Amino acid sequence: MTEQSFAGRKAVSISRLSEHVGEEVLVQGWLYNMRSKGKLHFLMLRDGSGIVQAIMFKGNVSEDSFAEAKGLTQESSLRVIGSVKADDRAPGGVELDVSELHPVHIAEPYPISPKEHGAHFLLEHRHLWLRSKKQSAIMRIRDEVIRGIRDFFHERDFLCVDSPIFTPNACEGTSTLFEVEYFDEKAYLTQSGQLYGEASAMAMGKVYVFGPTFRAEKSKTRRHLTEFWMVEPEAAFHDLEDVMCLAEDFVASIVSRVLENRQSDLADLERDTSKLEAAAKTPYPRLTYDAAVDILNEEGHEFSYGEDFGAPHETALGERFDRPVLIHRWPAEIKAFYMKRDPDNPKLALGVDMIASEGYGELVGGAQREDDAQALADRIKEHELPEEAFRWFLDLRRFGSVPHGGFGLGLERTIAWICGVEHLRECIPFPRMLHRIYP
Ligand code: 4AD
Ligand code: MG
Repeated sequence: MTEQSFAGRKAVSISRLSEHVGEEVLVQGWLYNMRSKGKLHFLMLRDGSGIVQAIMFKGNVSEDSFAEAKGLTQESSLRVIGSVKADDRAPGGVELDVSELHPVHIAEPYPISPKEHGAHFLLEHRHLWLRSKKQSAIMRIRDEVIRGIRDFFHERDFLCVDSPIFTPNACEGTSTLFEVEYFDEKAYLTQSGQLYGEASAMAMGKVYVFGPTFRAEKSKTRRHLTEFWMVEPEAAFHDLEDVMCLAEDFVASIVSRVLENRQSDLADLERDTSKLEAAAKTPYPRLTYDAAVDILNEEGHEFSYGEDFGAPHETALGERFDRPVLIHRWPAEIKAFYMKRDPDNPKLALGVDMIASEGYGELVGGAQREDDAQALADRIKEHELPEEAFRWFLDLRRFGSVPHGGFGLGLERTIAWICGVEHLRECIPFPRMLHRIYP
């Protein structure tokens, strides 16, 4: 491992200081804020892994250093050498007793102060906003979720395959396609890697696609981004039941991993984690679409059978349970062309959506896929999709077709729910939305 050092001391991340109690270490970071009292400066330092209080006592440092500290502004970068002291009252259980201060850069007046700022202002300053305590906590949870996703599939022998971002056709409906010029042709940014996941599953058995996806959603809701990350497992010989079991095990494992490893970030976000505990356990409740409609009607929602659920319906359904709920067997007309029909009722598609608890909406959309070449060709026609573009997709049903299925989980929706954050825009480092492409 490469170790950074300065003035003969090795650098230690703030999150690892508790492993170095009694040692003199180097901390490199930025000044989050500072207060002074007589012969003491209290510097709150952040380095991205955490925040630590560094106490500078006039008697322990050079006179110049003590004076220099007074000139430090918010977000100035600095190196500090100090000894690590255990202190139960301190966040992270440690403090630093400063012996040397080495400013790196004195920051100009910083635009983001601890006072309240409007959403527009913060989004315009997203490159700086990311430094704040809550935003960096969300990013650390995002990283934990991503590693949880990869580990989950790796442990179950799913292979990671990557799908292209330039695609010749739609996967999830033509109304939300981003069109791009591709030399002399038109191409689209991918809406989902599923179709390529299916081809890969026929080659490698169990796979997952994980990458950015694009939807030209004209909606301005808090649950929609135009660029978001989706993880899409796809597995041969999996029917709808297998897909639902996989989805609930998957989401429960991610929640329990975050609860285990990211308590301090959840605390910074003031997340009521008691509400997540139930979601760390399976099984999740399951409802057919029909039963879900009955519930909505019972609750007095105006809802007619055959429609897709809107945000208020998802919220109402999600709030009935203490953990996510799986809704399966949907009217085929409102679902994608590739879903297999229910053999017991061909008006229904073998699709499943997972709706989060606490009103965070749809986390997962998945299905058992149509595995019959003729039925799929008919669907492509019915949906008025360009047949030529799907020739290769039909091949998968011509050469050793098997029952198979999978789902897509929206990364930012999952993070928003786990973090208890209202809006998806805080769950991706640089959000892309209708009317936002800066910074
Ligand atoms: O339900 P969707 O559209 O399903 C698919 O794309 C399938 N092809 C996936 C598959 O079976 N492999 O999208 C899947 C999930 C949604 O449940 C939601 O969590 C998220 O992706 N999602 C969005 N997240 C943020 N912004 C948007 N505009 C989103 N659209 C979908
Ligand atoms: Mg969906």
